[in-house]
Amino acid sequence: MSSPPSTLITGIGELVTNDAAPGAFAAVTDAALVIAEGTVAWTGPAARAPAADAVVDAAGRAVLPGFTDSHAHLVFAGERSAEFAARMAGRPYRAGGILVTVEATRAAPDAVLRANLRRLAAEMLRQGTTTFECKSGYGLTVPDEARGLALAAEITPEVTYLGAHVVPPEFAADPAGYVDLVCGPMLDACAPSARWVDVFCEDGAFGADEAAAVLAAGRAAGLLARVHANQLGPGPGVRVAAEAGAASADHCTFLTDADVDALVSTPVVATLLPGAEFGTRQPFPDARRLLDAGATVALASDCNPGSSFTSSMPFCIALAVREMRMTTEEAVWSATAGGARALRRTDIGHLGVGARADLIMLDAPSHAYLAYRPGVPQVAAVWQAGRLVAGSP
Ligand code: NIG
Ligand code: FE
Repeated sequence: MSSPPSTLITGIGELVTNDAAPGAFAAVTDAALVIAEGTVAWTGPAARAPAADAVVDAAGRAVLPGFTDSHAHLVFAGERSAEFAARMAGRPYRAGGILVTVEATRAAPDAVLRANLRRLAAEMLRQGTTTFECKSGYGLTVPDEARGLALAAEITPEVTYLGAHVVPPEFAADPAGYVDLVCGPMLDACAPSARWVDVFCEDGAFGADEAAAVLAAGRAAGLLARVHANQLGPGPGVRVAAEAGAASADHCTFLTDADVDALVSTPVVATLLPGAEFGTRQPFPDARRLLDAGATVALASDCNPGSSFTSSMPFCIALAVREMRMTTEEAVWSATAGGARALRRTDIGHLGVGARADLIMLDAPSHAYLAYRPGVPQVAAVWQAGRLVAGSP
């Protein structure tokens, strides 16, 4: 599929641009958009649209920025459906389940990991995700973490080193030794493939001092910080993220007032992962409290085989609207521009002139249908850097 020099998409019932006030949803009705050289060249009322080499008629349907999924764990082998079923029968979620996936991942050849990763990435693309972040964290040895990141780097620039996911069994008696490995030889092997460093700061994973050490070592190696914070209970994760200058604190399910203050008074994005609360039957994070306080909120899938085996940003939007009291506008902003903020990207998450032409057309007249018609595939077509890569308009 090669792109003509310019494409006009016209007859757009609702065009979500997110290009007005910073931090706010913005849309125009009866709109058109021109793609040229992989970027957005023009947006405005359909009646004033300029000519282009090719024309696509949206016939009243909605066009949105592609989703930015800023939190996913896609390098793994095996599955944990029995653990999910047991949870639904009343067993609580614990970080220890991660080790089941670690064992399967270590045993898998590269080809199996690559195929699984690419299948999930293709699944995301069909559902409108045009940028995704991908973490390591199921290898937990120097070679296994390094190969996970190298595989991820084949298909996304947003690669995150998560050697500090949990302490692997061979270090059970020496967790400090594992942190030294994560901050030393494992980091050296992983940093060349990664942009980000992450740590699971939680009881059963890593404490505040360990998390701070991992982030500091990552920063010294040129990586930017993000943190798994306050997922399973109150804890130091958000504070650690703020002190480390992290781009994002992810989960944010159990927050004190001081945590909310930290998220409001620093540039740390609060990334909410409602798929994880769905999959672990935990209370959903209090998005209204964060939004009303003035925090920047992103939504992401947390796609992983344990806590949240969904790759669907539309599903996350529906949960955020129904269960977290986000407005449809807030949820769509958080799943597009919010995710871009959480990845410190200004070229995606919006359709202002000059943005990357990453966009989706819905089989629906407005963004609200993403929550209004939950579970229904409504992404008709997906463009990435101006190229039609999934579906057909
Ligand atoms: O984000 N919190 C830690 N990591 C994942 C869960 C991984 C797993 O259960 O395999 C999460 O929920
Ligand atoms: Fe996660």
